[in-house]
Amino acid sequence: MSEIVELKYGENVYKLPVITGTEDEKAINIAKLRDETGLITLDTGYKNTGATSSSITFLDGEKGILHYRGYPIDQLAEHADFLEVAYLLIYGELPNKEQFDSFVNKIKKHTLIHENTKQFITSYPANAHPMGILASAVCSLSSFYPESLNPYAEKEDEDLTIVRLIAKLPTLIAWIYKMSKGHPFNYPVNKLDYCSNFLHMMFSMPTEEYHIEPVVVEALNKLLILHADHEQNCSASTVRMVGSSKANLYASIAAGICALWGPLHGGANQEVLEMLEKIKADGGDTKKWIAKAKDKNDNFRLMGFGHRVYKNFDPRAKIIKAACDHVLAKLGIHDPILDIAKELEHAALTDDYFIERKLYPNVDFYSGIIYKAMNIPVEMFTVMFALGRLPGWIAQWKEMNENKEPIGRPRQVYVGKTNRDYVPMAKR
Ligand code: ACO
Repeated sequence: MSEIVELKYGENVYKLPVITGTEDEKAINIAKLRDETGLITLDTGYKNTGATSSSITFLDGEKGILHYRGYPIDQLAEHADFLEVAYLLIYGELPNKEQFDSFVNKIKKHTLIHENTKQFITSYPANAHPMGILASAVCSLSSFYPESLNPYAEKEDEDLTIVRLIAKLPTLIAWIYKMSKGHPFNYPVNKLDYCSNFLHMMFSMPTEEYHIEPVVVEALNKLLILHADHEQNCSASTVRMVGSSKANLYASIAAGICALWGPLHGGANQEVLEMLEKIKADGGDTKKWIAKAKDKNDNFRLMGFGHRVYKNFDPRAKIIKAACDHVLAKLGIHDPILDIAKELEHAALTDDYFIERKLYPNVDFYSGIIYKAMNIPVEMFTVMFALGRLPGWIAQWKEMNENKEPIGRPRQVYVGKTNRDYVPMAKR
């Protein structure tokens, strides 16, 4: 028998059904609440509001669990290829060899971007933030593929848009980087795997061939997998919300990129490294910065710490920390920033303020140190996050469409002025 919750309001008692997910998560279904009671719910920041039923990603913030389509994140990060994980997220199952080869080959076919895109990218100032250019460039892809504007496209057309996005994002990102440096653009080399090709486009020069270091490829693959989806976070919710108006996939992903940009979301990875550099330049006194983070009169927050849902530990942070140690050791890099990060982590994890508020290092705390070791500039960190998150956004958009979810349109409690008459300007 299904459970119900009783809501007493005035003289009446309303019965609200309880929905149970496959991991035993429970939710009160309030779909008919307003019709039956005249009430709405109020939950700023959606801290207690489920916006959808989803079968893509499961996470349990208390236990530090993260699964993509049921597979634990540590197993995927250890054994899988990023494109295999992309297929899993988007189509629901791990691909067999034939499905994987076909998916990869289709992606390789679409890695080039229209030559006009070069003019688009080069029209930006060299110091433009890459997230701004990327969001505009992704949205503008819809102009090159007008068939993607059809919200009721056939599955084949939708699949083509999905493949184009996954194929073209590395090229766009590498070209945005090259523009910022004033360097010539590199074209994709399709015999290379996804990560190696990206590194080639980023770092090869006509004067010098870039040596693709396997440990760097391995770390990049892992980072992209760890960022690939995270259920109904700010950017995924944005993608679903924009897509719910039947906006095309390129526009929806561009909106997700904008949402990711903020320092409280994906932008945190850039902020973390800048914070660590600042602490280093300031003499490396981590105690001073911990005190600043605790001071309510100081706006400083310990970037890379805390998470809306992980209140135990972020399982991705554990994997990234180990990967960070591995990459730096293999590349023979000793980065004093890593020492500061470890000291800061230790200080925070033993401090009552952070313990009481359950603030732990999140996925962004160590990712920047790995990106730095790969020579990826700090301003590009959030763009790297977007590259990893792309399959998750696509999967969320696709699921929202397949579930035939209605247009997202929250309500509000109005607290402004009540009805009043217009006063002519001369009398104000
Ligand atoms: N440093 C210091 N104090 C913090 C931090 C931090 N990083 N994070 C939270 N707190 C404190 C808050 O001041 C608040 O204290 P109070 O209860 O005394 O007022 C308490 O912890 C709860 O914080 P909220 O902001 O209410 O928690 P919320 O769940 O809304 O925010 C967030 C989560 C945005 C991630 C927050 O922890 C934060 O700003 N962290 C730093 C930015 C960051 O690393 N973002 C990346 C998140 S991961 C991702 O998006 C991929």
